[in-house]
Amino acid sequence: MRNPRNFAKPMAIGAPTPPIDIPMRPSRMIHFFDPSNPRMAEKVPQLTDKLDVLLANLEDAIRADRKIEAREGLVAIAQATDFGDSQFWVRMNSLDSPWALDDLLRIIPAVGAKIDVIMVPKVEGPWDIHYVDQLLAQLEAKAGLERSILIHAILETAQGVANVEEICMASPRMQGISLGPADLAASRRMKTTRIGGGHPAYLVRSDPDPEDENAPRTIAQQDLWHYTIARMVDACSASGIYAYYGPFGDIGDSQGCEDQFRNAFLMGCVGAWSLHPKQIEIARRVFSPPPEEVSWAKKVIEAMGDGTGAVMLDGKMQDDASVKQCKVMVAYAKMIAERDPEFAKLYDF
Ligand code: GLV
Ligand code: MG
Repeated sequence: MRNPRNFAKPMAIGAPTPPIDIPMRPSRMIHFFDPSNPRMAEKVPQLTDKLDVLLANLEDAIRADRKIEAREGLVAIAQATDFGDSQFWVRMNSLDSPWALDDLLRIIPAVGAKIDVIMVPKVEGPWDIHYVDQLLAQLEAKAGLERSILIHAILETAQGVANVEEICMASPRMQGISLGPADLAASRRMKTTRIGGGHPAYLVRSDPDPEDENAPRTIAQQDLWHYTIARMVDACSASGIYAYYGPFGDIGDSQGCEDQFRNAFLMGCVGAWSLHPKQIEIARRVFSPPPEEVSWAKKVIEAMGDGTGAVMLDGKMQDDASVKQCKVMVAYAKMIAERDPEFAKLYDF
């Protein structure tokens, strides 16, 4: 068993001390780009204002024969770009691949100071996080970095889901977890071939009408990802880190994408991946609290005074618990307002 006194100590001599609390930073959209693609790379500097998180992708969707170009492209882009207030994340290759080790050995010494978070795919258990944790500490020490690079895990294997609480608590570097619905569906042998989103065959149907066997029966499509998102949100919140919806692959279905993102937001997620410019605006809108909810929450907080007891407001009972919900909403909105002037105006802070 690891001595809890050592939990937040650097894992290599000379490495920076990892943070005990992970500050909440706006990360409504984690925008994926292919750093081996010069056309995409050119656009990166113009995107830093608009995006909360820019993510250079080295893993799936990058062809095996483009892995080195992607890694080198990433280094060149990071060297040339001032990311300002947006965050720069990297999705490395999975730990069982032939590229993972070289990804870290190349990019941390070269541009580690620019990287906020390393996203680790196909995490199966805490041992994967311990491996990356130790390696990052060694590389940070060697490169003389002053700030710890955080770790984000993708929840995309059945074993990873079974171990999600331990993954979240495996290191003080853990920043959050994203749902990886495509790999997870394959790992679980789910019978969907879609990347995220629902499935029309996953439904409940009302009972037959006893008087009329031909009467139509209403059906409601259910959410295939509800269970996993709920587990992920609980595991993340219990560990003081953040949960994210991952990719929604049907780029043409903006409505379906918005619905999935909103369900995740309502359940406690703070962002989602954007795979296409169209999804940036969807994530921005969905993961910024609705202005009318913020204005209601402000009213409740004001009416509740010291936050104890109960009051009636527009016919609705408020008490210690509901004022806490409202404080979550207002604190989150304040953070978004600092980053996004358009929402600052809508929230009227
Ligand atoms: C993402 O990586 C996924 O597998 O859905
Ligand atoms: Mg995946």
